[in-house]
Parts: sequence; structure tokens; C-alpha cells
Amino acid sequence: MSASLEVVADPARECAALLESIASEGGQLVLAGGSTPRAAYEQAGGSWERATVWFGDERCVPPDDLRSNYRMACESLLDRVRPAVVHRIQGELGPDRAAEAYERLLRDSGRAGGILFELVLLGLGADGHTASLFPDQESLFERSRLAVGVPHPGLEPFVPRVTLTLPALAAARRVVFLVTGPTKADAVAKAFGPGARPDPHVPASLLPSLAGDVTVLLDSAAAGGAV
Ligand code: 6PG
Repeated sequence: MSASLEVVADPARECAALLESIASEGGQLVLAGGSTPRAAYEQAGGSWERATVWFGDERCVPPDDLRSNYRMACESLLDRVRPAVVHRIQGELGPDRAAEAYERLLRDSGRAGGILFELVLLGLGADGHTASLFPDQESLFERSRLAVGVPHPGLEPFVPRVTLTLPALAAARRVVFLVTGPTKADAVAKAFGPGARPDPHVPASLLPSLAGDVTVLLDSAAAGGAV
């Protein structure tokens, strides 16, 4: 299964509309961290009173830390739309304890083993990482656990992380990557381009063969030579 690349003028607006649609149906959504999704979160509205929100990864910092993905999502979206349920990754517990706690939450959802999420939203690092799955790390080969600790991330911020594993990210009806800007063009080509193959050196390239429906929502700058 390969990813479908959708080059659009305003990826953030398209992503916001998708988030609104899934949320209004009471879906289970996984939010991406980093900086790219903020523009989409700020534009997203609609009715979230039946939605459940999860996180693809988190930095092991307190929830009010400027590096917290949870804080970014609250500021740009969650404090305003107020979903029914928000499952925060408790990064302040440290990578292993926080991952174990999140794993319990995911398994207690009663959906483990099947489709966990209606939508997984992901970003893409310039090194091809996604969530906190970094090139050539052992976390890429985890096939039973749903969440793991990442003691040594491969890109800033260099703080330990917690990340959903590939089996968890793939347990989604839809996986959507939101990628913008010329600095990501090389990673997009390596992960999703015509010649792309599953490669642990480019973690995002591993998802299309594991997940049913993978879309890359991107601007022309990020598309570069991949389309
Ligand atoms: C994180 C993200 C990470 C992010 C990429 C892209 O915690 O940093 O989950 O995977 O999506 O690094 O980050 P930018 O959107 O900031 O380029």
C-alpha cells in the first residue's frame, strides 16, 4: 500500500476541515506535535463534545512547559473546542513510566487489537522521523507494545519522549501526514516518493505498508520532486 500525496494551496485549512469532520462524528483522533499542526489546530472548530483526543507522542516535560505537545494543542485547539475526552501523555513521569501508563489507557479503551482511531495525524521531520520514531532506533521494530519511551530522540528538543509505536499508529482508519515547507521536501521524497520503499532510516516510510489508508497533505514546497 502506498501513500497518496495531496498537494493543496492551504494544507492547514484542509487539515482543520478533516479534524472538524472526524470530531463531529465523535471519533477518536490522534493529534500530532511539533510546530506544523498549530496552524491547522487554530483553524479547526465545529462540535467536539463527542470526540476523544489522543497524542501521537510527547516530550517528557511538564504539561505547562513550552516544549509540551499537549500545551501547544491546548493553546491552539483543545481549550477552545473542549473535546469530551483528552488522553494526555504524562511525560513528566519519565519515558518508561509515561509509556506504560499510556499503554494501559490505550488497552483499557477496549479497542486494542482492532481499529484504535478514526484518524491519526502526524508530522514529518526533515530526517524522516514521525511522532517520536527516529531513524534506526529499536522503537521502529516494536510490534506488540502500543507506546514506548524514547530516551534519546534524534532531533531537538533533545529531551526524552514517549511515542506511539508503528502498530498503534497503523491501527487507524486514516493516517494523515501534514507537511509543509521546502525543508521537508527531501524527507517527503524519501518517505513517500515514487522510489520510496520501507526503510528504518526513514521511519515515516514504514507506515504506508502497515496502515490501510495513508494520505500526505502537503504544499508544493514540501512536495518538491515527490510528485
Ligand atoms: C514532535 C512531533 C514530531 C514532529 C516533527 C515535525 O513531538 O516534535 O511529534 O514528530 O511532527 O518533528 O515537526 P515540525 O512540525 O515542528 O517541523
